[in-house]
Amino acid sequence: MALKTPDVRIEQLDFKKIGVKAILIGISQDKIELSSSIKRIDAELGNIISNCIKNKDFNGEKGEVISLYNSVKNNYLILVGLGEQGKITLDLIANTIAGVLRALRDKGISKIGILFDSFIFKNFDDAEAIEKIAVSSLIGLYRYDEFKTSDTNKLKYVDEIKVLTLNYNKKYDAIIKNAGIISNAVNKTRALVATPPNIATPEYVASYAKGIAKSSGLRCTIIEEEEARKLGMNCFLAVAKGSANKPKFVILEYNGGKGQHVVLVGKGVTFDSGGLNIKTHPYMQNMKDDKSGAVAVIHVIEACSLLKLPINVIAIAPLCENMPSGTSYRPDDVIKSYLGVTVEIRNTDAEGRMILCDALAYSLKYKPEAIIDVATLTGAAKIVLGETGTPIMGNNPNLISKIKKASEKSLEKVWEMPLWEEYADELKSDIADMKHLSDEGNAGTIIGGTFLKNFIGSTPWAHMDIAITSLAKADKGVNPKGPTGVSVRLLIELLRGWR
Ligand code: BES
Ligand code: ZN
Ligand code: ZN
Repeated sequence: MALKTPDVRIEQLDFKKIGVKAILIGISQDKIELSSSIKRIDAELGNIISNCIKNKDFNGEKGEVISLYNSVKNNYLILVGLGEQGKITLDLIANTIAGVLRALRDKGISKIGILFDSFIFKNFDDAEAIEKIAVSSLIGLYRYDEFKTSDTNKLKYVDEIKVLTLNYNKKYDAIIKNAGIISNAVNKTRALVATPPNIATPEYVASYAKGIAKSSGLRCTIIEEEEARKLGMNCFLAVAKGSANKPKFVILEYNGGKGQHVVLVGKGVTFDSGGLNIKTHPYMQNMKDDKSGAVAVIHVIEACSLLKLPINVIAIAPLCENMPSGTSYRPDDVIKSYLGVTVEIRNTDAEGRMILCDALAYSLKYKPEAIIDVATLTGAAKIVLGETGTPIMGNNPNLISKIKKASEKSLEKVWEMPLWEEYADELKSDIADMKHLSDEGNAGTIIGGTFLKNFIGSTPWAHMDIAITSLAKADKGVNPKGPTGVSVRLLIELLRGWR
């Protein structure tokens, strides 16, 4: 997988030496008082910006973009409207810049400057804003070209982005470097999730993880089917049974500090046909994305190592394929889980919780400080928060509050759902310890979490249901159409602020 990413640098603004074809300049709607760096550019160019504003050709409204040709330097000034100053957030800036960069790329502009000082407003921290601008540029420009063989000469790329400021400080270079690590984690997640299911089988993803372990110094253990059977991971194996592709249970370990591990568990269904409860059209489409959680945690732990975070992390990725065949598990089956709890199957399409329950219970052997699972678990997440945010839930308010803080900082939106006792009643089974879903089908996303809660004992645990946020249906802000790599930025933020 070769990802073409632009080179991002931060530089002192020197108008004589700007070697870019276009410069993004952010302008707010009200109180248009141009900042000192904009004033400088404006003066150098015979007041084209201020005249344009004076003539009301540009008002700084949200979404407004105008490009001014600068014949002196043969380049373009791209004025980007940011709306009312009081409402400008880093989220708005990140999404706006990403969209404008894509549009410029598609016009064939390969060297782009971003006038940092024009995007920074009083309530922002400089370092944070630089990181967000770099990350949103890098992840906003992502595109998956792996299988394009014709007209590849027509594919356009941005190869250089210069973040320009009048107040350059050497310490900004390290921020840009970290932004590169975070962005790579997101983009590599997107690319592996996008890899088609005939290629990205459990075996393929497992050897990919092994490769990452090798290159970034992680410990890697892969539990094969036979061993999983001996260990009693019967829920995981039940899901895998219907497929000709063998399951793999991947464990990556990063030891960068002292103390107990934080365990990340990611759902890794490389294709979810539904199994015997086969999905109907169009619901089987994009079910290669059902490995999004696993692929995310693999890249988050890689980033932990590249960022040299002073903590200990374990990433667990149960990988298998959910297929219908003569060997598939069935509705009505009763399966004894790794923890010993017996589970009555009602619908083979609720396979995610089956592989996760064994992975969660297995993770307890590390006596972790906290467990976080990430899973494309329920289509019902669409009813909960739509495509905008990820529903989260858990058993520990302190962990949930850490995740919410990381959410705000990383610009990945989450909202907590309750795990009230009443929901547990819906999982009572007539013949086994529990069912894996409720008959009524109400509160599907919460029922998913309610089931998982039985497999982590009293360890602080949180569950993120990324079923809907893992895929962008169209280009939107920092997410180009396709797999989004959701949870990667949030989890990296969480782990770097862990202690
Ligand atoms: N992988 C799906 C969830 C999903 C749905 C992800 C849509 C992305 C988009 C999951 O395994 C599933 O099929 N869940 C069922 C659960 C139901 C049978 C209780 C669902 O959401 O319909
Ligand atoms: Zn399913
Ligand atoms: Zn699934």
